[in-house]
Amino acid sequence: MIIGVLKEARAGETRVAATPTTVAALQKLGYQVVVEPGAGEPAGFTNGAYAEAGAELRDPLAADVVIGVNPPTLAQRDRLQPGATLIAMLNPRLDDGIVADLAQRPITALSMDAVPRISRAQSMDVLSSMANVAGYRAVVEAAHEFGRMFTGQVTAAGKIPPARVFVVGAGVAGLAAIGAASAMGAIVRAFDVRPEVAEQVASMGAEFVEIDFEAEVSADGYAKEMTAEQEIATAAMYDEEARAADIVITTALIPGRPAPKLITEETIAAMRNGSVIVDMAAANGGNAALTKTDERVVSDNGVRILGYTDLAGRLAAQASQLYGTNIVNLLKLLTPGKDGELVLDFDDVVQRGITVVRDGESTWPPPPVQVSAAPRTPAAATVPAAEPKEPMSPGKRLGVVAAAAAVLFLLIGVAPAQLQLNLTVFALAIVIGYYVIGHVHHALHTPLMSVTNAISGIIVVGALLQIGKGDTAITVISFVAVLLACINIFGGFAVTRRMLAMFSRS
Ligand SMILES: NC(=O)c1ccc[n+]([C@@H]2O[C@H](COP(=O)([O-])OP(=O)(O)OC[C@H]3O[C@@H](n4cnc5c(N)ncnc54)[C@H](O)[C@@H]3O)[C@@H](O)[C@H]2O)c1
Repeated sequence: MIIGVLKEARAGETRVAATPTTVAALQKLGYQVVVEPGAGEPAGFTNGAYAEAGAELRDPLAADVVIGVNPPTLAQRDRLQPGATLIAMLNPRLDDGIVADLAQRPITALSMDAVPRISRAQSMDVLSSMANVAGYRAVVEAAHEFGRMFTGQVTAAGKIPPARVFVVGAGVAGLAAIGAASAMGAIVRAFDVRPEVAEQVASMGAEFVEIDFEAEVSADGYAKEMTAEQEIATAAMYDEEARAADIVITTALIPGRPAPKLITEETIAAMRNGSVIVDMAAANGGNAALTKTDERVVSDNGVRILGYTDLAGRLAAQASQLYGTNIVNLLKLLTPGKDGELVLDFDDVVQRGITVVRDGESTWPPPPVQVSAAPRTPAAATVPAAEPKEPMSPGKRLGVVAAAAAVLFLLIGVAPAQLQLNLTVFALAIVIGYYVIGHVHHALHTPLMSVTNAISGIIVVGALLQIGKGDTAITVISFVAVLLACINIFGGFAVTRRMLAMFSRS
């Protein structure tokens, strides 16, 4: 089959659905690739580069599979071949007109922005790849607007304080913004209504703003709209955090809803002159009061509010590369024989989820898919709530510890001298191990594994010294000790190797 790559017709669009690198990958799947002349120019990919990668430069609308970033124009749709497959971000959730139009044509249409958010489909999730690029670019835009450095410095000419960044919403875009801003040296704080993201926020280098309320999480793992009480509880925090910040990046969104208004006019009026708000939710109405879609607004007190909706397109080469790779990953799924023949399997939730039209028939919306971003405690919503487990009272805990200590002292009292010493060391090791290892931060669990490997090494040496003592019981115990310690050592190596492989370029 032939894949045709469209030149984007939407004004201001800089991205392209295939780069020279992804063209080569598509050919490896057995397809011939045709690129519309000039398609990659806004992203910096020349016609020559596509030709060198093996693509033909001509009209893509005669192809069997037509790929694009945005929905094709009416004129382009009219020229699609009967039986063709169209792959683009068709936005069927918000634009049902496009589904109705495509369903009148003898074609199949797959929407890249409808990929279900399940782990298996992550490599095709264009919304995540674009939000990741956009979150990074939001920080670059903010840095460009902000008349100061992000990083703090002590120079001969004086002390420079670090910029303070507040990120609202820690989804894909928010986490990318946190990562970029903290890498540039800013002090970053972030908030999300889903408290379970606190750990991810911390791992990206920001401090999670704690607030005392129970957020509701929907069955698909996305946040739900806040209640009136929750709104009051968060409003004061938003006001306080935004006033203290130099840069506010807002990404708060609940799918299918207009963006919640979180940064009020009064808060903006109280922010410092020269502060910047990048409102990433501008396309859905914006999280800040003064946001205007696709515009840069400066408030009376000099706060710059950016409502750009093309942030991913402002890093066109990078966004195109990621989008193109998402398409290659989808086509790998759709080309099981690697023979250039596209086969659509409706039993597969990913393929079913993205198909909006099949052979001229609307298949939108697909049956709901339980996404992987499942809430942490979904059981509470579906099964009768179990009695909450009371933590052990201090008195009870003291009793248990006293009983354990009494048993230990009894054992030490009756045991032979050598065993007494060993039991004392064992008891001390339990106490110290509990307090030291139990308080190691999650991020340090991998180095901790290396330490346990070292301990396992000592166990192996000890057990080998004992194994030849001639006593059957000692031999068996030593053998088991060597076996378990070796499982720990070699298992540790295997896990570390797998983790390192995840970071290797190949
Ligand atoms: N401007 C652009 O060019 C551009 C590009 C890509 C994405 N976006 C936008 O960025 C936003 C984020 O995208 P994403 O993929 O990260 O979405 P996402 O759904 O993964 O993340 C949104 C986050 O906001 C949180 N949230 C919802 N209501 C909140 C509230 N009241 N307070 C705090 N947090 C709240 C959610 O819990 C979620 O973590 C979306 O609005 C998306 O349309 C903009």
